[in-house]
Amino acid sequence: MSTVSEVKAKAGLEDVVAGESAICYIDGDRGVLSYCGYDIHDLADMDHGVSFEETCFLLWHRRLPNRAELGDMQTQLDSARRLPEPILRAMKSLPAGDGMDALRTLTSMLGHYDQDAAVHTPQANYRKAVRLTGQIGSLVATWGRMAAGGGAIDPDPALGHAANFLYMLTGTRPSALAARAFDVSLVLHADHELNASTFAARVSAATLTDLHSAIVGAIGALKGPLHGGANAEVMKMLLDIGQDAGVERAGEYVRAKLARKEKISGFGHRVYHTEDPRATHLRRFSKSIGEKAGQPQWFAMSERIEQVVKGDKGLNPNVDFYSASMFYSLGIPIALYTPIFAVSRISGWTAHVLEQYANNRLIRPRTEYIGPAYPQPVLPLDQR
Ligand SMILES: CC(C)(COP(=O)(O)OP(=O)(O)OC[C@H]1O[C@@H](n2cnc3c(N)ncnc32)[C@H](O)[C@@H]1OP(=O)(O)O)[C@@H](O)C(=O)NCCC(=O)NCCS
Repeated sequence: MSTVSEVKAKAGLEDVVAGESAICYIDGDRGVLSYCGYDIHDLADMDHGVSFEETCFLLWHRRLPNRAELGDMQTQLDSARRLPEPILRAMKSLPAGDGMDALRTLTSMLGHYDQDAAVHTPQANYRKAVRLTGQIGSLVATWGRMAAGGGAIDPDPALGHAANFLYMLTGTRPSALAARAFDVSLVLHADHELNASTFAARVSAATLTDLHSAIVGAIGALKGPLHGGANAEVMKMLLDIGQDAGVERAGEYVRAKLARKEKISGFGHRVYHTEDPRATHLRRFSKSIGEKAGQPQWFAMSERIEQVVKGDKGLNPNVDFYSASMFYSLGIPIALYTPIFAVSRISGWTAHVLEQYANNRLIRPRTEYIGPAYPQPVLPLDQR
C-alpha cells in the first residue's frame, strides 16, 4: 500500500471518483446523461418531456411526481417567488455590474430572511431547497429588469417557472414556443454530476455548514469562464464577429483564434468525448427561436463555428455554445446568461447538498507536496 507522500496528484482531479451519488449518471464516451435513471433526451422532449418543476421533484425525490405531487411542488415554488422586501431594496442599492456578483450577494442575503434560517433538520433543509429554487428565478429576472431600468414585476401564479421567469424579466407573457423552449433549457441545465460548482457545494455542505452558505460557494464557482461563464463569452464572440459578417467570416475568426492558441468558449468538455447531449437540443432551439425572432444569422454563424472547431480541433460544442444564441434570440441580456444557468442548477446543487447531509463525511483530500525540501532551517532575519 502506498503512503500519502507517494501518491501522485491528478491534475484537475480528472476521472477521479470522489463520492457516491444517486442523482446523475454520465457516460462521457457514449454521450449519455441521465437524472435518476431517466435519459435526458426523454426528459427534454419538447412534446412528451417533463417540466422544470417535475425535474426538481425528480432530483430531490429520485422519482417523477404524480399529478397531486406536481401540484404541491408548483404551489410551493409559487409561494417562494415573491422576494422579501429587504432583498428588493438591497438589489436596488447594488452598483450596476455583473449579474453573478448580484446573485452571489443576494442569495447570501436570502439566508438571513429564510424562516428556517436557524433550523438544520432534513425537513427544514428541504424547505430551504424549494424556497431558494423559487426565489432565485425571481431574483435573476428582477435584477435583469432593474438593470434595464424597469421596475419589479410580481410573479403570475398562473404561469410555470420558466414562463414566470420570462414574464418577470420582460413584462410580457411569453409565447408557448418561447416558454417551452426556455423550460427545456432549464431541464437540460438542472444537474450534471460532480461539476465544479456542485463539487464546491458538496465540499461546503460536508462541513455541515448551512444550505445557503453551500449554495453561495457554488455560485462563485459557476461564475468562472471555464464553467458557467462560458455562455456569455460565446455571445460576446458572436457579437464581436458581427451580425452582418456572414458565415465565412465566422469561420475565419475562430480559425485565427485557434492559430493564436486561444480557447473557443462553448467547446470541449472534461467528461464528454462525444457530443454533449444537451447541445443536441440547444442547437435545435438556437435555430427555431432564432428564425422566429428574425435573427437566423446567429445560428448560421454558430453552425459554421462548430464545423471549423470540430474539423480543426476535434472538439464538440458543450451546453454553453448554442444556449448563447438561443438566449439572445429570446431577448435575454447577456449579463443574465450565467445567472440563468444558476436559475436551473439550483435544483441540482440543492439535491446534492441534501444528499451530502443525509450521509455525510467531511471532504478533506490531500495534496502532493512539491515545495522546498523538508526541513529548511529558519535563519535569523538579517541572514536571509
Ligand atoms: C471545458 C474545459 C475547461 C475542459 O477542460 P480540460 O478537460 O481541462 O481540457 P484542457 O483545457 O486541458 O484541454 C485539453 C486540450 O484541448 C484544448 N482545448 C480544450 N478546450 C478547448 C477550446 N474550447 N478551444 C480550443 N482548444 C481547447 C486545450 O487547449 C488542450 O490542448 P493542448 O493539449 O494542445 O494544450 C475546456 O474544454 C475549456 O476551457 N472549454 C472552453 C470553456 C467552456 O466552454 N466551458 C464550459 C464547459 S461546460
